[in-house]
This record gives sequence, C-alpha cells and structure tokens, in this order.
Amino acid sequence: MRVAMIGTGYVGLVSGACFADFGHEVVCVDKDAAKIEALERGEIPIYEPGLDVLVNGNRFAGRLSFSTDLGPAVRGADVVFIAVGTPSRRGDGHADLSYVFAAAEEVADAMSGYTLVVNKSTVPVGTGDKVEELIRARKPQADFDVASNPEFLREGSAIEDFKRPDRVVVGTGSERAKELMNQLYRPLFLNETPILFTARRTAEVIKYAANAFLATKISFINEIADLCEKVDADVQAVAKGIGLDKRIGGKFLHAGPGYGGSCFPKDTLALLRTAEETGASLSIVEAASSSNAERKKRMAEKIIAACGGDVKGQTLAVLGVTFKPNTDDMRDAPSLDIIPALQKAGAHIRAYDPEGMEEAAPLLPGTEWMKDENEAMKGADALIILTEWNQFRALDLGHLHESLRKPVIVDLRNIYTREEMKKAGLAYHSVGRAP
Ligand code: UGA
Repeated sequence: MRVAMIGTGYVGLVSGACFADFGHEVVCVDKDAAKIEALERGEIPIYEPGLDVLVNGNRFAGRLSFSTDLGPAVRGADVVFIAVGTPSRRGDGHADLSYVFAAAEEVADAMSGYTLVVNKSTVPVGTGDKVEELIRARKPQADFDVASNPEFLREGSAIEDFKRPDRVVVGTGSERAKELMNQLYRPLFLNETPILFTARRTAEVIKYAANAFLATKISFINEIADLCEKVDADVQAVAKGIGLDKRIGGKFLHAGPGYGGSCFPKDTLALLRTAEETGASLSIVEAASSSNAERKKRMAEKIIAACGGDVKGQTLAVLGVTFKPNTDDMRDAPSLDIIPALQKAGAHIRAYDPEGMEEAAPLLPGTEWMKDENEAMKGADALIILTEWNQFRALDLGHLHESLRKPVIVDLRNIYTREEMKKAGLAYHSVGRAP
C-alpha cells in the first residue's frame, strides 16, 4: 500500500518508518525543509532507540522517502495520515488544532480519487468531524473518508510499541476505510493484535481516556508514596501487592517525582477543557493533574530537607534531566521545576544526562553541564537522581562515597535499595520509603 505521512515529528516519523518496515511504500512529508534534507541524509532529528536503523534501512530499501511536497505524496497515496503537532494553546490549555486543519486543507486540495484520511495526532473529540467538514467544504466532489487512529507509543520504546501493540484502535463507520486499515495493519495479525473498530468520536475519546487513566494511576501511587513515608511502609512493595491483582495491574505504579513529557500533562489539560465545555465533570482527572503539578514543585523541598534543610552555597550533582530515560525530550520534565527551585534556594547545580543536555541547556540556565556521572559527583555535597537511565542503576557506591563531600543521595526514582545504600554508608532518601 502507499502511505503519505504528514508531519515528521515523533509520531509521524516512528509510524512512517514502521509502516515502511511492514512493507508499505511511505512518503513522510514536512514543511520544514531543513528537517527533510537532514532525514534524506540519514540524520534523525530525535533520539529514539532503534529509529536510525529503521529509517535508514527502509530508506535504502526504497520503501521510505521524505518530501516537502505534500501534493504528489497525497495524490499517490491510498491512505493519508495527519500526524502533526497539537500543542497546548497558550493560556487556555486547549489543544491547538491549527496545524491539523491546515494539513487537512492541503490534503483536500491535493487529493484525487478515493482517499482515506486518517488522524493520528492527539485531537479532542469531534476533530474528525471538523476535518471531514473542512475537506468537504474545500472540495465538494471529493471521494474520501476520515478515520481516527490514535497512537499509544511511549517515547523510548516507540518502535516496540508500534510493532507489538496491545491493540490498534480505529474510529470509522466506513467499510471501505475498515478494509484499508485492516490491510495496513495486516502484519500485526500474525501476533494476534486486536484491532478495535469503533465510531470515530469514540476512538478520539479512547486516546484521551487512556492517557488520563495512566496519569491518574501515577498520581495515585505518588500520593500513596507520601503516605508510606509518613507511616514507614514501602511503596514499591505496596505497588507490587496491589498490582498482582489483575484488576489493578502492576504497570504504571512506579512512584517518582511526578509525570512529565509531551502527553500526560497536555492531554489531561485538554480533556479537562473539553469536559468543562460540555458540562461533564472529570473531577478525578482534575485531581490527578493538580496533584502532579504540585508534586513536581514539592520535590525541591524534599531534596532541600534531605540536604539538611538548607542548600545555600551547596553544590548538588543531578543525574538525569529528561522526563524519562531513552529520550532527549525535555517537555514538562520534572527537572524543569526542581532545578530552578534548588538554584533559587542558593544551590549550585551540576548536571549530567546521557542524551538530553543539548535540549536542556537553554531551558536550565545557570546549570553546569558535566561530561559524565563521575565528573558530576566529584566533590558535590549531595547526589540527586532525577531520571532512571540504566547507566545510573549500577553506580560504584564505594567510589560514590569517596567522591561526595557529604554522603547524601536523593533518589527520586527508587533505583536503589535502602539496604545497599546503608551498607555503603550513604544517607539515602527515596520516594515512598522512609529513609
Ligand atoms: C505516554 C503513554 O504511555 C503512551 O501510551 C502515549 O501514546 C503517549 O503518552 C502519547 O500520548 O503520545 P510517554 O509520555 O512517552 O507515553 O511516556 P510514559 O512512559 O507514559 O511516561 C510518562 C511520564 O510518566 C514520565 O515522566 C514517567 O517518568 C512517568 N511515569 C510513568 C511514572 O512516574 N511512573 C510510572 O509508573 C510510569
């Protein structure tokens, strides 16, 4: 099949490369000429494990190409995906749909013959209807369907998530569209991935409801972590104890500094705006979202308390600044709340992140960027772990003890046990486990 993927951001590029890897012929389109030129040279604009090999392998095989020219890509395609950004609109938290609508208009102008237009961007319920109206108004005689196909990829494991998803959701009432989507995802039938066809609006709600539920799960365990600290219980054991109940499930129950990233914070806000407009009450999502925002702010106080109540003049070594490991993405990362608050309290921050320092440097002024974890910790007053990159999971604790001026570790991702830290003579502060 021939696929046009509009938007070479995170979702568009990963999805385009994976569809090409399924054997389809994919053209990825973007207005950003510099980005397209870089992709044509084999340079990948984001850090995502395995993506360079996937893109370049399929590029050499002739199944994946890049273009700034939407017209020919759309005219030649059986399926056109819209995978452009939907950032939070400044001020009101609504998803900004201007890129989606602009892409839809361009698709309308270019389409000839039957075209299936599929929305992959995260869009509020009803956007598919608007895209359909827009195309119809622009080209009344056009033969097309508009479907919704939300993505459930996680940064850092996006390729695996695309190729082995728990499910594929497609919102459409058209039999022709269903047939095409079945063909497109055919390789997944081998591993028996369920493909769930729903009404278009339902698919749009599924995407937001999934993210809101996961965000709620994280806020829930984070609040339980606070309780555990007060009553001297261990949140990790609690998570395991409740997660073994299949009705609850053990995933997304890791307590930490609060969720960040380009999706949960933005999507929960957008869902809340939709609820407000329609008069629905989403008080649980509201609570999850505000609990998370407050938590991120509170983490600096936790660190300061662990450092003896005052960090003025102290040098703190921070490991990890991205919102999660295996990405260079800094969007809504907890570090963006925590580091400035520590600096405001008078601390000097030395930080190291395996992939995120280039993105982070302009966002975190005054931070001293180090070449590795050893350089960061040398002579520091305390070590703070903000992101659980694998390489931070096996630090030489003896060396750590020698390197630090004071043996204080604040681990906001619980990647060490209290026992091993105690044995190494380190004062260890973690999340949801009393020191
Ligand atoms: C999330 C969803 O997991 C994907 O299914 C969805 O497709 C994506 O948003 C999206 O809408 O595009 P992502 O933001 O890449 O994916 O990353 P997650 O692994 O979900 O992590 C989000 C945040 O929650 C991170 O800051 C992470 O550290 C935090 N988190 C996650 C926890 O604090 N505890 C957990 O147990 C899990």
